[in-house]
Amino acid sequence: MRSFDEDDEDSDDSEGEFADEGDWYASLIAGERVGEWLDVIEEETKQQRSNDDEEKEEEEEGRRNRRRTKNDDDKRFRSAIEQLTKHVEEDEVYGEEAEVAEAERILSEALAKVSLTTNIDDDEEEIEKETSNSSSVQKLLRQSLEAIETHRKRKKNVKTYAMKNGRVEVSILETKLSNGVGGKLWKAALLLAEQLDDKEGEPKDDDDDDDGVIIDVKDKTVLELGAGVGLVGFAAAKLGAKEIVLSDFEAPLLEALAESVERNGSEKTTKVRWLDWRADGASNTEKTEPPDAFLALEKEDTYDIILGSDCLYESHHATLLPKVINKRLSSSPNARCRLLGAVRNREMLDQLIENFRKFENLRATETSVAKSERLNYDGGYVRVDIKRKSF
Ligand SMILES: C[S@@+](CC[C@H](N)C(=O)[O-])C[C@H]1O[C@@H](n2cnc3c(N)ncnc32)[C@H](O)[C@@H]1O
Repeated sequence: MRSFDEDDEDSDDSEGEFADEGDWYASLIAGERVGEWLDVIEEETKQQRSNDDEEKEEEEEGRRNRRRTKNDDDKRFRSAIEQLTKHVEEDEVYGEEAEVAEAERILSEALAKVSLTTNIDDDEEEIEKETSNSSSVQKLLRQSLEAIETHRKRKKNVKTYAMKNGRVEVSILETKLSNGVGGKLWKAALLLAEQLDDKEGEPKDDDDDDDGVIIDVKDKTVLELGAGVGLVGFAAAKLGAKEIVLSDFEAPLLEALAESVERNGSEKTTKVRWLDWRADGASNTEKTEPPDAFLALEKEDTYDIILGSDCLYESHHATLLPKVINKRLSSSPNARCRLLGAVRNREMLDQLIENFRKFENLRATETSVAKSERLNYDGGYVRVDIKRKSF
């Protein structure tokens, strides 16, 4: 499978093409730092408002002391704006986090406030100092706003993936990891999508009639769990599935998926639905609701094929996924579910298989996925195939 950016058809696979744990931590750290800088900016903006009122009544001595502290605050204020600008200019992740934290609003409020703050009770020298100080802060704030606007206007991160035998091409829209871990593409999705498509494939498992590597989606109904950017589901749509539901529980991911349905021209077969595994598990106690703009998966709907890539990364997923799959997999003996993911935690994976065993009409088998140079992970990848037991 080959990938290329929309306007760069020759670009080859490169570092950073896929989301990984490092990206996730980077987004957490960026979010924290952006939050700290914005807190300083907001605090100082509020401070200036109260200072203006108080200052009128202050004694000269008190005013001098306050100015000393004010100088320190000014330094922190400027440094916070400068750091924010620099990081947003240099690193996309900081731009994403600044957007999420409403930096534009906070900076605009600060700018409006700074523009109004010259103390008319001061002497001429002081007024001159304050005016020049205020205009240099205004300049910093404008630069910061510009950096954020530039980030926002950058083109949408649409990528196109061509399956290796060239039968289909899929476009995905990546957003940001702060929208949810599925905001960017994970390698497992590519591995799973290739298994839908790879007609040569690996040899079938010796001991098995039909758990071979290829899953044929033609004319089947397909549900993708934790779809993220939806590469697997769109690949199924392009490979002739009769009906595809891309599901996730994060509203921004559902929005991006809906946009991708149009971009892939899959409107006739593909729906985007909210599905929270916590709400779908039989013994659910947590109440979660679909976001306004999206419908939840119909309560009773079941599917011929269920697919999920990298859906196991928190311990409760090992309990939830078997419940959801048991509920959503058709009762037909031909129904199939495949979960494919990196082995991040062996115990969690064992727990998942164990939990499938608790359903007497499900059979789950685990198979290692052949290593590939490009799509590798230290702990390796496995696929877990689930089907209905025939009694
Ligand atoms: C690591 S990402 C993988 C995304 C995509 N399948 C891929 O491989 O690129 C895990 C996905 O599972 C989804 N997810 C996690 N917990 C969920 C839950 N309780 N209900 C539904 N989806 C969930 C996340 O929103 C995310 O899209």
